[in-house]
Amino acid sequence: MRSLPTRRTLLGASAAALGSGLLTACGGGSPSGGATARTGHGAMHHGGSPADGPPGYVDPAGPEVRAAEAARKATGPLTEVRLTATATPLDLGGGHTVRSWAYGDTLPGREVRATAGGTLSLTLANNLPEATSLHWHGLALRNDMDGVPGLTQRDIAPGGSFTYGFALAHPGTYWFHPHTGVQQDRGLYAPLIVEDPKEPLSYDKEWVVVLDDWIDGVDGATPDAVLAELRKGAGGQGGAHAAHGPAGRPGGTASARPSPAGAPSYLLVGADSDILGAEAGDVAYPHYLVNGRVPEDPSVFTARPGDRIRLRIVNAGGDTAFRLALGGHEMTVTHADGFPVRHATARSLLLGMGERYDVLVTAQDGVFPLTALAEGKDRSALAVLRTGTGTAPTAATRPAELDAAPLMAGSLLPDESAALAERTPDRTLALRLTGSMNRYDWAFDGTPYTPDQRHPVTAGERVRVEFRNATPMWHPVHLHGHTFALGGAGGARKDTAIILPGGRLTADFDADNPGLWMVHCHNVYHSESGMMTVLGYQA
Ligand code: C2O
Ligand code: CU
Repeated sequence: MRSLPTRRTLLGASAAALGSGLLTACGGGSPSGGATARTGHGAMHHGGSPADGPPGYVDPAGPEVRAAEAARKATGPLTEVRLTATATPLDLGGGHTVRSWAYGDTLPGREVRATAGGTLSLTLANNLPEATSLHWHGLALRNDMDGVPGLTQRDIAPGGSFTYGFALAHPGTYWFHPHTGVQQDRGLYAPLIVEDPKEPLSYDKEWVVVLDDWIDGVDGATPDAVLAELRKGAGGQGGAHAAHGPAGRPGGTASARPSPAGAPSYLLVGADSDILGAEAGDVAYPHYLVNGRVPEDPSVFTARPGDRIRLRIVNAGGDTAFRLALGGHEMTVTHADGFPVRHATARSLLLGMGERYDVLVTAQDGVFPLTALAEGKDRSALAVLRTGTGTAPTAATRPAELDAAPLMAGSLLPDESAALAERTPDRTLALRLTGSMNRYDWAFDGTPYTPDQRHPVTAGERVRVEFRNATPMWHPVHLHGHTFALGGAGGARKDTAIILPGGRLTADFDADNPGLWMVHCHNVYHSESGMMTVLGYQA
């Protein structure tokens, strides 16, 4: 059950011709625009728009979407990948082997590398006992390949498969995961690196760093059981957080709340962060991982002293923000969510779920901890950089760099090449984040997600989304298919951004990618509880 990435590099116009022919043969990106899903019984279903939404909106496989795809003029290399989502044992190191669901038998799934200006064709076979889907986090791609079941495609049934085929418009650090239930909080995630054929940075080595919080398969736990507990949560018991509010919290230490029934509880209380607030997370995870390894048995990256290393950092967690630092090093931040920023130095970074940063470091001589502190949770994940001799850091190592206030996206400026031009918004959408931990009723504007919701925009508009967080918890909000300017034109480009408790966030973007696009919190338990909605291009 290994994933079998294959890569064929072709040049010039012949690649485009071959690419489109091949995609047609695979059933993805066919000329009719219909996504095609194959079931285990071999029947073919034409995707098109699976949801019967309100009339007057662009169809995910409609002519506007096909025209936008054609305008991307993908003439570069074609990358072909075959992937199997399957139940498998995963070795997390340190004697921890869990049964989970993953892409192949590795955690994270093997990275996919492709080239901007080229085409990606990925066939996902579903060997899971449940329907699944695959979403390309951060990509501005054709809407019918965005991987949202019930909105942009049909479920990929157990035993079925689906071929995603699309042009890659932008280079950068991305990742992919299911958009089905809480499957993302299992092992179903992998990095997607879109290389820039005209890469302006020079560096000696690349280190892809994927952060995660882990519970699946530990003492029988599953993300579905976690969600069930959160949902009945506090509501039935008068409020876990109410009972353990800041005054009653034992010594400010985050801990799992003992369950009245004596069953293991995953609810977290007292996850206090001086940045994210008193509810930095909902879930007490048994493990925090870098590249699929527990801190007692970390992955080791080897380089030479003086090497310039590009780190591509992805937070693939379900409910954990990570504060990350490389002991003994300063980082130069070069990209946020795949897009270039004006270089900024940082001793530590804070990543909400779904956020990515690229940084450059110049390796010192020795052995150094790359520590990712689970913000507010008093636990950490670890990887090691080794360029010489020295004592290996341990899970308890706390680099001094973590004490500095971590860099967040709001302090970054876009690189000139990525700046959104100044323009008065043609339309402003107001979205209020609502809900509470006690009721577990996360939503936008008090209305939990249904696939027929539409916040209308029109192609060609400059759109401003004004998010207002009316909850006591922070949320990493994510917009599909676009990379907005944070805080309005002039801000760093992002597809996922942290909104603090009670805070606001302005996100400006050009409506240049027609379709139906999710807006949601990237806390997987919040989104699955209802904190999602849909931005719809009017036909
Ligand atoms: Cu990474 Cu809709 O999500
Ligand atoms: Cu949230």
